[in-house]
Amino acid sequence: SVPAIEPLLPAGRVIPVLVLDDPETALSVAEALVAGGLSVLEVTLRTPAALACAEKIARHLPQALVGLGTLTRPEQFAQARDAGAQFLVSPGLTPAVAEAALTTGLPYLPGIATVSEAMAAREYGFTELKFFPAMLNGGAAALKGMAPLLQDVRFCPTGGLTVASVPEMLALPNVFALGGSWLTPAAAVRERRWADIEALARAAVAAQPV
Ligand code: 3PG
Repeated sequence: SVPAIEPLLPAGRVIPVLVLDDPETALSVAEALVAGGLSVLEVTLRTPAALACAEKIARHLPQALVGLGTLTRPEQFAQARDAGAQFLVSPGLTPAVAEAALTTGLPYLPGIATVSEAMAAREYGFTELKFFPAMLNGGAAALKGMAPLLQDVRFCPTGGLTVASVPEMLALPNVFALGGSWLTPAAAVRERRWADIEALARAAVAAQPV
């Protein structure tokens, strides 16, 4: 298995899911989110600069816990580790991807959408799972339904969440964090409205149950 991510999480349990085009902008976005109270950041491998962006944040913002997400091919795992990622995330799971994740030895959240997929992930030793896409697959009600069936599994739902999801999701005993892209609207990033992004982070922190 791999080390758990939950013990590494700070008070802010909302994980911004980031799509970043260049390292300088990436650092500004990350600084705004950390200033707003969210220091666990998932940089997605959806742009050519994603690895460089994660590396930049990891190097210049030690307060942040930087992960790489959207890992869908086994060869991406060593690249993500070499870029300085501190945790890894996939939207799904295959046998080859599971093998690569176990080899990196980093905390890892494979994506699942059904009970069978969660059971398969657990057979590889993964017990912290990304529930994705969460809202299309039943949201909080689905997570509630899985709790008695998979008592040793904990979830990070993402996909279709907003600030309104934060109190409901984090109140569930089998949810340890949640993620989403709503914290970094593309227009705000493009227009370099860092104060707006900081405010979205603050609102997410304030929405967490105490
Ligand atoms: C992810 O990979 O977690 C999702 O792209 C985040 O979903 P969202 O964009 O609906 O928040």
